[in-house]
Parts: sequence; structure tokens; C-alpha cells
Amino acid sequence: MTTDHLHDILIIGSGAAGLSLALHLDVRLKIAVISKRELEETNTYYAQGGISVVLDEEDSIASHVKDTLVAGAGLCDEETVQLVVENGPMNIDWLLKGGVNFTKDDASSSSGGYHLTREGGHSHRRVIHAADATGKEVESTLQAQVMARPNIEVFEHHIAIDLITSNRCRNKQQKHCYGAYILDHESNQVETFRARFVVLATGGASKVYQYTSNPVVSTGDGIAMAWRAGCRVANMEFIQFHPTCLYHPEAKSFLISEAVRGEGGQLKLPDGSRFMHRFDERLELAPRDIVARAIDHEMKRLGADCIYLDISHKPAEFTQEHFPTIYHRCLGFGIDITQQPIPVVPAAHYTCGGVMADHRARTDINSLYVIGESAYTGLHGANRMASNSLLECLVFANLAAKDIHALEAETPEPPCLAPWDESRVTEPDEEVVVSHNWDELRHFMWDYVGIVRSNKRLVRARRRVDLLQREIVEYYSNFRVSMDLLELRNLVDVADMIIRSAQCRRESRGLHFTIDFPYPDDRVQKKPTVLIPESYCPF
Ligand code: FAD
Ligand code: SIN
Repeated sequence: MTTDHLHDILIIGSGAAGLSLALHLDVRLKIAVISKRELEETNTYYAQGGISVVLDEEDSIASHVKDTLVAGAGLCDEETVQLVVENGPMNIDWLLKGGVNFTKDDASSSSGGYHLTREGGHSHRRVIHAADATGKEVESTLQAQVMARPNIEVFEHHIAIDLITSNRCRNKQQKHCYGAYILDHESNQVETFRARFVVLATGGASKVYQYTSNPVVSTGDGIAMAWRAGCRVANMEFIQFHPTCLYHPEAKSFLISEAVRGEGGQLKLPDGSRFMHRFDERLELAPRDIVARAIDHEMKRLGADCIYLDISHKPAEFTQEHFPTIYHRCLGFGIDITQQPIPVVPAAHYTCGGVMADHRARTDINSLYVIGESAYTGLHGANRMASNSLLECLVFANLAAKDIHALEAETPEPPCLAPWDESRVTEPDEEVVVSHNWDELRHFMWDYVGIVRSNKRLVRARRRVDLLQREIVEYYSNFRVSMDLLELRNLVDVADMIIRSAQCRRESRGLHFTIDFPYPDDRVQKKPTVLIPESYCPF
């Protein structure tokens, strides 16, 4: 007996994108929010630096737009950039009204009394933040509001397996999404969730790399599910590596915010000398792709395990006040950042590509939306500018809510759906296949499809991913599903998309750098890389 749930809107994901959407939707509507672990276990929760927004009187929308376009290296969609930047102040105001406590700066009247920090690529101070734990403040405030809304039902420890859609391209009509099969991994039952609208807010895919700043949830599930269902996916070659993650054997995925560099932190080699002047005149505040590549270059040149980020020249009280989380976390590992430099390395951080979405967050499938890091909207181009991501989550959650409200009256309840069929699978007999393949995938993606790529490395990675895909499909068809298996299946699909997109781009641009074509070449491909799945329905 499988459980059949029925809602007006099914939101898969509980980060800034998913929770904001749930709160923007009318309280008449019955909403399900699905989260594959605890509600707050999201990238959003770990965000440090802040949210970029034009608040200072000396700043301007035009300047934020220009900086975003420059960071995006010629591949941003200008209309999307304009739309997101213009909608920024209104959405920050919404967060403030909802109770988010951003750090104040009483001395500054030009920014509405809020402290604005600076990050790479921004020509003004325009990053509003809650000390160095902005994500925690945003996520907990949104979560408290969601829990107080009787029309929102929350399902933790539920992982979506696949979307349920109408058959492919029937009667020249666009496909329609009716819901999803979702595994409750506490009871181990697969349940059917039906809804009039389905929204993917599942975040990015950085777990496809061995070293990442992301929590365990970032396995690209939404991108892989949408792809299998027939949605186009764009710009997957542009994976952002954050230049500065803490390098310590016991520190898993701990970021040292770009705001540390924004407030004067300097990058240094093991001998204490600075090096960014050899790579970019903007020094430590050059866009992330440039800084991460410079660090990678220096580490390889010197055979060093890490480089250093030094803010010890600033007064200790300043550092403790601005970066309390980083200060205490590092102190826990025996590093006093007010006295000594922080050992850092680059790590996979952000997925710039994703499921193609229009300005209403609609995908290629009727009634299926995508918002947040799993979407490709054209905002980030070939390289996301710091703190533009949370902004995109907020703006597109709002736009999706407006579109759902506009269509809601004319969208009927979905039909009854076939329950999940487990009649031909058995209990898995060799779990080691799954754990081994997880490790292997993340290892070769780091070595062959990382910060610096080449034709040869991509071919090697492609061969390995093909093999893994075959093994996983076979395993998936024969054995009962588990969380690890589902995530691995998604990671392998996403890895395939990253490699294929990287192979398509025969130039270096933004975050995609290959030694075989080391320069941008506008004649080759000054446009997004679009992958089209076999199940795509072009109507
Ligand atoms: P997330 O917040 O990642 O949420 C994804 C949700 O989807 C989770 O609830 C997860 O459980 C759920 N999910 C995934 N797959 C499934 C499935 N199959 N079934 C059910 N649920 C599923 N950006 C900024 O703009 N400013 C910053 O300062 C900043 N700092 C960052 C610091 C760190 C350490 C990291 C990792 C990222 C940072 N970013 C920052 C990026 C930003 O945090 C993310 O891009 C953004 O939070 C993504 O939000 P989201 O709602 O799209 O996804
Ligand atoms: C950071 O604080 O460095 C992360 C900012 C971001 O990813 O936008």
C-alpha cells in the first residue's frame, strides 16, 4: 500500500528559494515542502558573506548590473541581470519585514543604517549581511515563519526520486508535471506526491567534487530529475571553485568568507609573500575564477598543500566582531586568526548552470518550475559574482509565486497516478558498489574536470563516467532504492552533463579553463551551452 499525497503546490527543497516561495504563496493554497534531511540542512544555512543589493545612496542599479556582467565574462543574459538587480531592494525589504536581523552600522545613514561589506567583483560596498552567518539568520527566520503557517506541510527526511509527467510529446502538446515519487527514508517507503504545481528548489551539485564547501545535500538531484523528465539544461561547465576553504585535516567543508578579503585579508604564499599582483590588478578582490586559478597555479608551482589568508594585521576586536563564526571555528582547530594566517585551499562551491528557466521560473514542462541554485536563469553567465546567489533565490521565488497565482484558477487537480512499482527489485546485496562509485566519481571529477581542464583529461573523465552510468543504471533496476543510491545516480548524471558541456566549449571563459584553448574566443561560442535530453518535447 503506497501513500498518495495531494497538494496544490509541491516544493522540493527547503533553502532560501523553497522557503521563500512557500511564504509568498497564498495561505489558501495547500503546500508541501520536501527536505531530504533536516529542514535547515541546506547550502543557504551555511552562507556567510551576505546578499548583494543596491542600498547605498552612492551605489546604483547600473553599477551592480555592470559588475555582474563583467564577472559573468560575456555570458550573462542582460535582461535577467537587470530584472534580478532591480528586484533586489524589494526582496531585502521583505526579509527585513519577516524579522531577519542584518548587521547594523549606526554610523552609516546612506545605507539605511545597515553595514554593507565588500566582496570580489563588486565596485561598491553592497553586501548586506548578518555578521559572517547570513545564511543561518535567513534560513532560521524563514523556517520559523513556515512552521507557523498551517497551510504548509513539511516533510523532512524525504528524498524525491523522480518527477511524474505525462507521456512524451503526445498530440503535439507540451509535457505536463503531475508530481513526484518520494522516498521517506525513515520508513523506507516510496510515496506518491501529486500536485497542481511542482517546484524544484533543490540547490546545486558541488558534491560531485572531492573537495567542496557545500553540505552533503548538494548532489544535483533537481537538475538530474528535470533532465530525465525532459528539461533542457544549460552552462553546466561553469562550476565555481571558492578560493578559500579552510585547510585542516579535521575541518570538513568550512568556508573562509570572501568578506575576509573584502575587509582587507591578504593572500600569501608559505614564505609570507603576496602574489595576487602577478595575476590581476584587483588583487584579492578580483572575481573568484581568477583568484581560484591563481591559487591553484601557485600551489602547483610550489608543490604546496595550501596557501594562506592573513587578516592578522587588523585589530583583533575588528576581526572578532565581523567574523565571529570564522574566528571561533578556526580557534577550535588551534588557529587564532587575529594572530596568524589561515591555511586555505580552493574547493567546489557553486553550480552556475542548471535547469533552464524563463523569467517566471517556468521550465520546458508545464506546471514544473525551478528556482535557486538548481536553475539556469542567465544571471551568472560564466562566473557568478559573490553574493548574487541568495539574491537570485529570493527574486525568482517571488516571480514563481506570482506566476502560480496567475495560473492557479485554471490548473486542475492532477489525475490518479500509478504507485511506485517495486515488484522486480530485491534488497541490495553489495552496498560497496555504491560507496566505491561515490568515491571514484568525486575523485576523478576533481582531478580531470576541476579548476584547470584539458581535452585529454575530459576524455578520460568521459570514459569513466560512461562506465559508472552503466553500472548505476543496472544497480538501480535490480535493487531497492536507498538515499545513497539515489544521490549517486543523480551525481553521475550531473557529472556527465558537466563533462559534455566542458567538451562543447572549445575556449576558456570565466570558470571554464582549458589548457588546449587558453583564451576566450567570441567567434567560437559566445553563448550558453545548452544540452537537450532525449525526452525533450519541443512543443
Ligand atoms: P539550498 O539552500 O542548497 O537548499 C536545497 C534544498 O533542497 C535542501 O533543503 C535539500 O535538502 C533539498 N533537496 C535537494 N535534493 C532533494 C531531493 N532529491 N529531495 C528532497 N529534497 C532535496 N551565496 C550568497 O549569495 N551569499 C553568500 O554569502 C553565500 N555563502 C555561501 C557559503 C557557503 C559555505 C556555501 C556552500 C554557499 C554559499 N552561497 C552564498 C551560495 C548560496 O548559499 C546557495 O547558492 C543558495 O543558498 C542556494 O539556495 P537554494 O534554496 O537554491 O538551495
Ligand atoms: C562567501 O562568503 O565568501 C561566499 C559568498 C558567496 O558564495 O556568494
